[in-house]
Amino acid sequence: MKYLLFCLLVSFSTFAQTTNQYNLIPFPARFVGQDGQFTLSASTRVLVSPGTDAAARSVAQIFVSQVKTTNGLALPVVTTSPALAKGANITLSINKKLALGDEGYKLTVTPARVIAEAATPKGLFYATQTMRQLLPVAQSTPVTMPACAITDKPRYGYRGLNLDVSRHFMPVAFVKKYIDLMAMHKQNTFHWHLTDDQGWRIEIKKYPRLTQIGSKRAETLIGQYSQNYPQQFDGKPHGGFYTQDEIRDVVRYAQSRFVTIVPEIEMPGHALAALTAYPELGCEPTKAYQVATKWGVFDDVFCPSDKTFGFLQDVLAEVMTLFPGKYIHIGGDECPKTAWKNSAFCQDLMKKNKLKDEHELQSYFIRRIEKFVNSKGRAIIGWDEILEGGLAPNATVMSWRGTAGGIAAAKQKHPVIMTPGATCYLDHYQGNPATEPLAIGGYLPLDQVYAYEPTPAELSPAEQNYILGVQGNVWTEYMPTSDHVEYMVFPRALALAEIAWIPKGPRNFEDFAQRLKNHLPRLNTVPVNYAKRLFDITATTQPNEQGQIQVRLTKLDSDSQIFYTTNGKEPSERTTEYIGPITLTKTTTIRAMTPTGGNLTQTFTLHKGKNKPYTYATELGNDSDAKTNKLTDGVRGDTPRSRREWANFFGNMDVTLDLGDVTSVTKVSLNFLKVILDKNFPPTSVSIAISRDGKDYKEAIDQPITYELTGPWDILPVVADFKTARARYVRIRAKNAGVCPADHPDAGQKTYFSTDEIVVE
Ligand code: ACM
Repeated sequence: MKYLLFCLLVSFSTFAQTTNQYNLIPFPARFVGQDGQFTLSASTRVLVSPGTDAAARSVAQIFVSQVKTTNGLALPVVTTSPALAKGANITLSINKKLALGDEGYKLTVTPARVIAEAATPKGLFYATQTMRQLLPVAQSTPVTMPACAITDKPRYGYRGLNLDVSRHFMPVAFVKKYIDLMAMHKQNTFHWHLTDDQGWRIEIKKYPRLTQIGSKRAETLIGQYSQNYPQQFDGKPHGGFYTQDEIRDVVRYAQSRFVTIVPEIEMPGHALAALTAYPELGCEPTKAYQVATKWGVFDDVFCPSDKTFGFLQDVLAEVMTLFPGKYIHIGGDECPKTAWKNSAFCQDLMKKNKLKDEHELQSYFIRRIEKFVNSKGRAIIGWDEILEGGLAPNATVMSWRGTAGGIAAAKQKHPVIMTPGATCYLDHYQGNPATEPLAIGGYLPLDQVYAYEPTPAELSPAEQNYILGVQGNVWTEYMPTSDHVEYMVFPRALALAEIAWIPKGPRNFEDFAQRLKNHLPRLNTVPVNYAKRLFDITATTQPNEQGQIQVRLTKLDSDSQIFYTTNGKEPSERTTEYIGPITLTKTTTIRAMTPTGGNLTQTFTLHKGKNKPYTYATELGNDSDAKTNKLTDGVRGDTPRSRREWANFFGNMDVTLDLGDVTSVTKVSLNFLKVILDKNFPPTSVSIAISRDGKDYKEAIDQPITYELTGPWDILPVVADFKTARARYVRIRAKNAGVCPADHPDAGQKTYFSTDEIVVE
C-alpha cells in the first residue's frame, strides 16, 4: 500500500512539471503565447457592459460558476466602468463590429487584465471556455492564466455529437453532463437519438402508449450480437423516457451553453417500439409487435398510410414545440422494404403515385414529412439512405455509410453533415479488441479520428461549401451505463471537436496528444471516465542480423516508464523495466504497462512461414479477402471480437505455402473461427500435408473437425505434428461446411469459414 502511494505521488509530480501552459482543445485559429501571467484573486471582477443583454450576462454567470467549481474562487459579475476596466479584471465585451462570425472571439490575456470580445454572446461564451482551459485544472494557488493573444473562430458551423438513448436509456443528469462537455470543447450541436426499435424515449401527450408501452423492453441480449448460438437474454426489463418538462429543462440547459439540440424521431424504419404501442401504424395491424430485445435492423416499419402520416405529424408537432432549433432529424436509415413489398396497400399506393420501386416509396414518405416540417418553418436532416429514391427538396444529408452519400448530396446542392463510420463512429473499438470492453466491432483509434478530413477533396470549392460540418456518433447497444458511454466517447470526441474547429491544413497528432494529455486532468475533476488508450504502448518489430526479432516499445506519454513481462503474467511496476528493444527467439506474448494507465498485450508469432508466399488451387470468389498476405503476416486473430486478422473462405480452401528451401518442419498449426450465428462455421475436415518438391505430399493429418453448433463463439485450433520431417511446401485443404441447417436463422444459406495464420515450426 505504502509503495503504491509513493509511486502515485512520483508520477503526479512528473506530470505537473511537464504541463504545458496552453493545453487548449480545440486549439485556436490564431494564437500567440506571451510572457507573464494574469493572477486571479478574491478582488478580481468579471465586467460586463451596462447595456449587456441577458444572454451575455448569463455567459458571465456560467463562467464564474465554472471558475468557482474548478478553482474555488468566487468572482463577482459587475457592470463595468472606466475605472474598473483599467483594473486587474476580466472584461467580457460585446463588439458587434468584430468580423469573426457569430462564434468567433478575441481574447487578450496580459499580466494587467483580461479582455474578451465577441460580436455575439455565443462568441463570448467560447472566449470563456478558452479562459477556463487556461486556468489551472484544479484548486491551487495562485490562480493564474498564462498571457496570450487569441483570435479565434471555427472552421465548420456544425460541430456535433450524437447520443443514442434508445438502446440504453441515459438519465437527464448525464445528458446535461454530456452537453457540458460538448460546450467545453466548443461543439455546438447535440443530436439526440430519441426513438428506435428498442425503446421510445420522449413523452408525446397525444400518444401516451408510446411511453407507457414503447419505452420498455422485456429484456436485453447478452454479449455481442453473434456471440452465443442461440442468442442469450438477461431476463431483466429495461426502460425509461424523458417527460416533456425534462426535455424543456435540458433544452434550456443546452441553450445557455449555446448547444442546439437536434431531436431524432426515426422513420420509416427503426420503428418497432412505436409499432408495439400502436400496431395500426404497421403494415400488419394485427401483428403482436414487441419492443426489440436485441440489436439490428427489423422488417417491421411504419406503413405509409394516412393514419401513420397523421400520427407522425402530431408527434413532430409536439417535438417542434419542445425543440426550438432549425433541424428535426427524421432518421431514414436502414428501412427494409419487405413489409412494403408484402403489403397490398403499399403496392397500390406506389401505382397511384407512379412510384417505380420501394426506394421511391421511401422518398415519397420522407418528402411528405419534409413538407410538413417545412410548413412549420423547420428543416429535416436524414441519414444518407434518403438519397436512394431521390432527395426531398430541402433535406440535409448525414453521410454515415462512408462519404459517398455526402459527396452525392453536396453535388446535388444539399447541405451535408459528415459522419462516416470509419472515422466518426465512437462505438467502434479504440484499442485492442481482445482487452477492451465489448464493443460492436470496428477499430477506430484516436489518431485515426484526428486524421479525418471532413471535406471531401472530390468536391469543387463551390460544392465544398455544402459541407456543414462533422459529427461523432454514439450508438449504445454495448454501452449499458453512462460511465461506459464516457469511456467510448472520450477522448475521441475531443479529436472530433478539434478537427471541426481548427482551420483546414496539416495537423500534428503529436501536438494534439500532448495537449490532450495535459487536458485530461481537467476531465478528472469533472470527473469523466475517459479511455486511457492515449497512454497505450505501441510495439514495432524489426529483424536483427541473427534473424531474431527485436520488439521496440514506444508511447506518446514520454515521461513515464514501461514495465513488461514475457511469461504471460500481469505486468506491474515490479516486473522488468523496458530500457531497449526486446529480442525474441520464439513466439512470445509481451504484456506491458505504464503507471499512467497504458497497456499492451501482443503476441509475436515467430515461425518459418512468416512472410512466405502462398498460392490457391481453388477459386476464392470475389468476396474473399484471403488474397492478401493475412495467412503469413505473423499476426494472429486472437479474438472473435475483431475480424481484422481473419481471412474468409466462401468455398473450400486449398492453399500451398512455399518456404523457399527444404527445411525442417516439425509442426503446422492454424485456427478456425466459430461464430455460428454469423454463418461462420469451421470447416468439416482439414488435411495438412508437406512436400520437398511440390509433387509428392505426405499427409500428416486428414481428419474431420467436429464441434457443437450451440454455445459461445470460439477459436478451434488444428495442429499437425511432423516430429522430424523436412519440406519446402506446406499444403492445407479445408472443406466448407455447406449450408446452414434447418434450425439456423439463415437455414439453407451458404456458410463460410475464417482462418488467421498458417504457423510453421
Ligand atoms: C446508422 O448508423 N444506422 C445511422
